[in-house]
Amino acid sequence: MGGTFREQLFFVMLCLSVLKGHARYMEENEITPEGLFSLLNSELKREIPEEFIYSRPLRCLDMVAAEGQFTFTADRPHLSCAAFFIAEPNQVINVEYDSVDIDCRGGDFIKVFDGWVMKGEKFPSSQDHALPLMERYIDYCDSGTVRRTVRSSQNVAMVFFRVHTVGSSFTLTVRKPINPFPCNIISQTPEGSFTMVIPQQHRNCSFSIIYPVEIKIAELSLGHLNDFPIKKSMPGCAGAGDFVELLGGNGMDPSKMFPVADLCYNFNGPAQMKIGCDNTVVRMVSSGRFVNRVAFQYRLLDRQELQRIKVNSVEDFCFTG
Ligand SMILES: *[C@@H]1O[C@H](CO)[C@@H](O)[C@H](O)[C@H]1NC(C)=O
Repeated sequence: MGGTFREQLFFVMLCLSVLKGHARYMEENEITPEGLFSLLNSELKREIPEEFIYSRPLRCLDMVAAEGQFTFTADRPHLSCAAFFIAEPNQVINVEYDSVDIDCRGGDFIKVFDGWVMKGEKFPSSQDHALPLMERYIDYCDSGTVRRTVRSSQNVAMVFFRVHTVGSSFTLTVRKPINPFPCNIISQTPEGSFTMVIPQQHRNCSFSIIYPVEIKIAELSLGHLNDFPIKKSMPGCAGAGDFVELLGGNGMDPSKMFPVADLCYNFNGPAQMKIGCDNTVVRMVSSGRFVNRVAFQYRLLDRQELQRIKVNSVEDFCFTG
């Protein structure tokens, strides 16, 4: 894990504060400091021998960044619970049902979602995900005996659950297998670097950083320039089948975010931008005819930088500079 504890704590705090908007879930839940520390402790698992399986209780509102075994036990009826899972960019989430004792007929459920949902907005957006929306929800009660294991398409997944009866419980084992071709990603930390490559595939990939950040694009290479020079008469990137866009916004869904910059020219050497939004996305659109590649670095904006770009910006809902 790249980040420091401070960053991880900040990440958890931020996610929890985002969740606060989700009153439906927060009404029933109080995250305690003990809860936060147990998540941080989970990151210490590297110091534990390989054969040891990390395990802890799952809370009704939870954030899980570790591999291990997670058990939810209802101490009272819990009608809207959500656990967020996150892994490294080059991993996916594998959720396995170990034991499930819930009352499906009585209205209980456990649903794995392939991505994250916050305030009704999804990541990856429907435009960037290979599966239709309905197929991204796997309900244990519909498929439990058939599908004991559900694997996400990217480094984030969620589990929604409802358990009416006191004492009902279930246990999930979470693993994080390597994804050789990561496409859609949510960054675990507010600083880092990433190189996104789409090798001749007709698909779009989004890299989301849920912080206000400065982005430095170090290199952009779109295969088409070698063969098809762009017609300069076109405004912006209109007409380019392959391009990169920087998006800013305050929700999760890239397709609902505000375009900050379109890039469809190859270059080397840094092009940088500060984006004062809660969520910043680097999205690559690929026609499938070329190998496209973008390399970038990002770091958290401090309070003063945020203030400065806010003053200089004409936009009011998200400011850029
Ligand atoms: C990728 O995104 C572009 C524009 O945002 C869209 O026109 C295209 O259909 C998308 N491609 C795929 C494979 O979804």
